[in-house]
Amino acid sequence: MLIYLNGKYLDYSQALLPVDERGLQFADGVYEVALVWGGQFVDLERHLERLERSAQAIELDLPFTRSEIRDVAEELLRREAVKQAALYLQVTRGVAPRDHRFPAVVQPTVIAYLKDAHMDREALQHGVKAITVPDLRWLRCDIKSVSLLPNVLARQQAANRGVREAIQVRSGVGVTEGSATNIWMVHQGSIVTAPASNWILSGIVRSVVLDLAKSEKLPVAERFASAEELLQMDEVFMTSTTSFVMPIIEIDGRKVGDGEPGPVTMRLQELYLQRLDQIAHATLG
Ligand code: PDD
Repeated sequence: MLIYLNGKYLDYSQALLPVDERGLQFADGVYEVALVWGGQFVDLERHLERLERSAQAIELDLPFTRSEIRDVAEELLRREAVKQAALYLQVTRGVAPRDHRFPAVVQPTVIAYLKDAHMDREALQHGVKAITVPDLRWLRCDIKSVSLLPNVLARQQAANRGVREAIQVRSGVGVTEGSATNIWMVHQGSIVTAPASNWILSGIVRSVVLDLAKSEKLPVAERFASAEELLQMDEVFMTSTTSFVMPIIEIDGRKVGDGEPGPVTMRLQELYLQRLDQIAHATLG
């Protein structure tokens, strides 16, 4: 496995960082995960835009231009020659003696690599199970920060219960998102998903699926559903770069609808996968 680290392409075993790296000490950094499909980056420009927004939100000056980091991504892809993968890109404030305050002079740490990503076709066809958990995160879930402890704990709770995802419910707000996915619900043909706000990460797949729903003339309400409503929905699904458009067929041990992936979910999944194949065949950017 090849790792890009601060300007160099290194073998995994050579890619080492000092202990006082601020990503490790304070989770003081931001990241992105973008898909490679059929040897092409999918929506890389949108991911890089979001990385810029996340960095700006934590007052971190990215040490590269968009075209420079795009070149790094392309170079990794050229050297690794993979067809299907996830590009992992992380920028932290850098290495400095431990002190909560920003260091006066510091060079951000930039890490990029391609990680295996496989499509779970069985799950996409038949759906997965989920649980609900309280959303314990901070007030800026719109920043794609490497500070993921509540997400890690939520996903582990799901794993402990033998299910795929933990759907987070924010007290006084409602259903926000999964531990690493956006959540969608369908009731009597209408789609509901949490609005882009400080309470969720505005997913790239979310924005694509919103456009696909529009193109299908499916009504969408961007609002917070309550936990009670979630359990009354006809269909529930989740989206992310690595889980695509994934049906959820059971929540907290109760069937969603009839316990099978629903027609709206499967239509959006079909359109989403078609779009990926179009990108792989380079008919789109
Ligand atoms: N997770 N919400 C959270 C909290 C996420 O971590 C993610 C992505 C999403 C979906 O975003 P997108 O559609 O841009 O992938 C929503 C990535 C895949 C991860 O951390 O692995």
